[in-house]
Amino acid sequence: MRWRNSRSSYGLISVATHWLVALAVVGLFASGLWMVGLTYYHPWYTRAPELHVAIGVLTALLMLARLVWRWLDSSPDPEPGLPRWQVKASALVHSLLYLGVFVTAVSGYLITTAKGAPAEVFGLFSLPATLHDLPGQEDWAGRAHLIVAYGLIAFAGLHALAALKHHFLDRDATLRRMLGLENPDP
Ligand code: HEM
Repeated sequence: MRWRNSRSSYGLISVATHWLVALAVVGLFASGLWMVGLTYYHPWYTRAPELHVAIGVLTALLMLARLVWRWLDSSPDPEPGLPRWQVKASALVHSLLYLGVFVTAVSGYLITTAKGAPAEVFGLFSLPATLHDLPGQEDWAGRAHLIVAYGLIAFAGLHALAALKHHFLDRDATLRRMLGLENPDP
């Protein structure tokens, strides 16, 4: 498999970042809902938020790297015969997925740093607090985080359903090429 995309298939960088971000977003959504219900004496009470924050920051950075790579590399052409409205709808959903990850990550950062503490990433590096101690910051950032995370998961579900429809009903290469199973054109 090539590193770069071709006219008809995705390369290793696009495929790997796609599935890593997908796995992380689903994991962060589930772990987020689970961890806010933990009681003080639960063994994961501090560890779970630490992991959530660290993986969340890395996911946002990976998404940023994916976006930069998208600008550097050419994107494969849409599947032949795909109606124009579907090309436009998928582009819109893809943009909303990028936006959703960034807004979720920024709101999460604003919760974590609300009192001026940095967001730590596995002790490797940390993001210092920038906007902090604003009135009700933890509350409004927390509400935004939850609402946008739900929106993100809803659009990710729609995106996954569309991919399954292409694979099982239209029987085209949309899903296979994001799995790296299509041969690149010469
Ligand atoms: C894009 C990926 C992310 C997703 C899908 C996600 C999802 C969630 C969800 C669903 C919750 C539960 C919210 C609630 O029930 O009130 C949550 C909580 C939380 N998240 Fe995230 N999150 C992401 C990234 C981040 C990042 C990057 C940070 C920090 C830098 C972060 C910090 C937090 C914190 C501190 C909480 C606890 C909020 C509270 O105690 O009310 N999250 N997250």
